[in-house]
Amino acid sequence: TSKRIPLVAGNWKMNFDHLEATYFIQQFAWKLRAIHFDHKRCEIALMPSFTSLRSVQVAIESDNLKIRYGAQAVSVTSQGAFTGDVSADMIAHLGCSYVIVGHSERRKYHPEDDANIVDQVRAVLAAGMQPILCVGESYEERRKGIELDFAVGQVRDVTCDLSDEEAAKLIVAYEPVWAIGTGMVATPQSAQDAAKAIRNDLSATFGTEVGETVRILYGGSVSSKNAVELIREPDVDGFLIGGAALKVDELTRICKLTM
Ligand code: G3P
Repeated sequence: TSKRIPLVAGNWKMNFDHLEATYFIQQFAWKLRAIHFDHKRCEIALMPSFTSLRSVQVAIESDNLKIRYGAQAVSVTSQGAFTGDVSADMIAHLGCSYVIVGHSERRKYHPEDDANIVDQVRAVLAAGMQPILCVGESYEERRKGIELDFAVGQVRDVTCDLSDEEAAKLIVAYEPVWAIGTGMVATPQSAQDAAKAIRNDLSATFGTEVGETVRILYGGSVSSKNAVELIREPDVDGFLIGGAALKVDELTRICKLTM
């Protein structure tokens, strides 16, 4: 058994304004209490929009909740004339623990390439937070049977210049693009194969201790129906959840069975 504490991270994407976010957290906290959720056995994190972060912080701190939270993206620069951007320090000063980096939707709709993603990872680490680095093949790569090399390559491209110490703070989310929001979930075996391949490569680059420390999440159509099987896999350390994280009862169920 591994020493890694599982992480259930809800990526709300562009959903919920700050009032809805606050209401969700109140309901969620109530449900977690009702099931005697043990935060020492499973970490929970929510990733709202920038506009909700402050409200989420207040809701969590005022009720002394053990839920962590973070942002969905970050600027690569620290300050200055970058209209519309949000810096890592601004995010860190709201009490955030994590920032999602390189989500496939960001790679698709914004000019985010590997170089930009490397800089985001650096900015997040420098501000004392942990990046949740998203990787995963599209349907095309899977069809060609090169999905493992592809995902491993994406991690390698972004992490090659990190120190061992920096790499140890990384969280990787393996999210095959064809599984995101489609209801088509990866099989437990293929999630495990990808997580294992990524972990082996991290161990080869940064040493076994780092490889065994980094949490590797699975993302893509996770629900309370498939999470039980997925979390049984030894290298799957939790989930990055989209749609199912927008429903309090469903998210509570997933947290419960990951604990
Ligand atoms: O980041 C999580 C996400 O991309 C997966 O979304 O809706 O398939 O759980 P969903």
